[in-house]
Amino acid sequence: MNDQLSADAILACLLPICLFLISFAWLGMPTLSLRNILDIIKGRTHSSGNYPYFSREHAVASYDLYYEMASAELASMRKSYSKLGRAHKRIGYELGYPRKLDKLQATIEANDKVVRGIRRRARETIPSIKRTRMPENGDILRVRETLKHFVRDWSSESVSERTAIFQPILDALQTEEPTKRGGMSVLVPGAGLCRLAWEISRLGFSTTAVEISPFMTLAFRFLCSPEYTNRIDQHVLHPYSYWFSHQQKNENLFRDISFPDVVPNLASNLRLEEGDFLTHRSPSGGYDYVVTLFFIDTSMNVISTMEQIYSLLRPGGQWINLGPLLWPSGAQARVELSLEEVFDLIRMIGFKLEDGNDVPEVKRRKTVPSEYTADRYAMMKWIYQAEFWVATKPE
Ligand SMILES: C[S@@+](CC[C@H](N)C(=O)[O-])C[C@H]1O[C@@H](n2cnc3c(N)ncnc32)[C@H](O)[C@@H]1O
Repeated sequence: MNDQLSADAILACLLPICLFLISFAWLGMPTLSLRNILDIIKGRTHSSGNYPYFSREHAVASYDLYYEMASAELASMRKSYSKLGRAHKRIGYELGYPRKLDKLQATIEANDKVVRGIRRRARETIPSIKRTRMPENGDILRVRETLKHFVRDWSSESVSERTAIFQPILDALQTEEPTKRGGMSVLVPGAGLCRLAWEISRLGFSTTAVEISPFMTLAFRFLCSPEYTNRIDQHVLHPYSYWFSHQQKNENLFRDISFPDVVPNLASNLRLEEGDFLTHRSPSGGYDYVVTLFFIDTSMNVISTMEQIYSLLRPGGQWINLGPLLWPSGAQARVELSLEEVFDLIRMIGFKLEDGNDVPEVKRRKTVPSEYTADRYAMMKWIYQAEFWVATKPE
């Protein structure tokens, strides 16, 4: 009697699942892997990390889990689609929506090729993370942000984004005689994927990039390793495919972008320090320049950041800044200053803001409309009215 009951119960549970799967096939739902199906049934998603935020383990874990996390999001999208009634599902089918979701799956696989390269390179070069414990959570937002930085920094797609923000900085630095540059030192804190630092080193300056995020530094190791990156446009990404909003055409959404536009064979005058700029030490005598691009507003305490910039410069050295004032959200920042307060702070710390008519044009304060990892075909644009200034530490 009991056996009969449990057999009936199992049948009762299995029947809806079978009907669910048959209806998927019948209505033309895209191919689902067993993992996708389990994700749908369990309602599983992947979100924040379970390692210290700025640890390499957290970054490697996130790269390890990129494919799984992205596939779980796709499974949620398929699940939403599956909730349409039969008639609307048929319309969705005629619109090609199931095929669009399949296309997203293909782009996740393509992006994962780059991601696998990053984590393989990380394990080869950093023995302590050779065997990172397989985690349960990773940070897909950071992985995606880093992939977009390959586009911002190292693809021809983003030449105009880069030119708008790099050129004012490079112009200011080029006021230095080329013959003197080899003996001058430049620090670039919060260097991201280091294109600006690389451009500065190519002008002849001895350049140090400092970057705290292992998401970025591991990706940069992959980019700079000749075994992984040795020719122009070698790698392909689909950086925008995961966000279906603000798109005119699916071909824009899924377009591939190759990188690098130039192979960054590192010269000996460029050095990357993987760590916190707030604890960075200057070479004896101090830096000739500190260059901050989209950086100072990422700080939890901009007063400490500016004091540190001041202390790292030699007397007479200059701080060149270009960026917005997008303070960390959720009241994390100790202070969230307006631009006029930032200028007051610059003076209070002891800098002289280069702003008069006697200052060369290229070093004068200006507002620079700028974008940040923008999708140039999107129906939405986010333009920062970023501020450029040069401030001098008195002799
Ligand atoms: C908004 S991003 C800008 C990156 C790059 N400058 C660009 O414009 O593409 C800020 C960068 O600063 C890094 N960063 C934040 N605080 C830092 C710190 N204390 N030391 C070093 N890097 C830091 C972040 O990890 C991030 O890569």
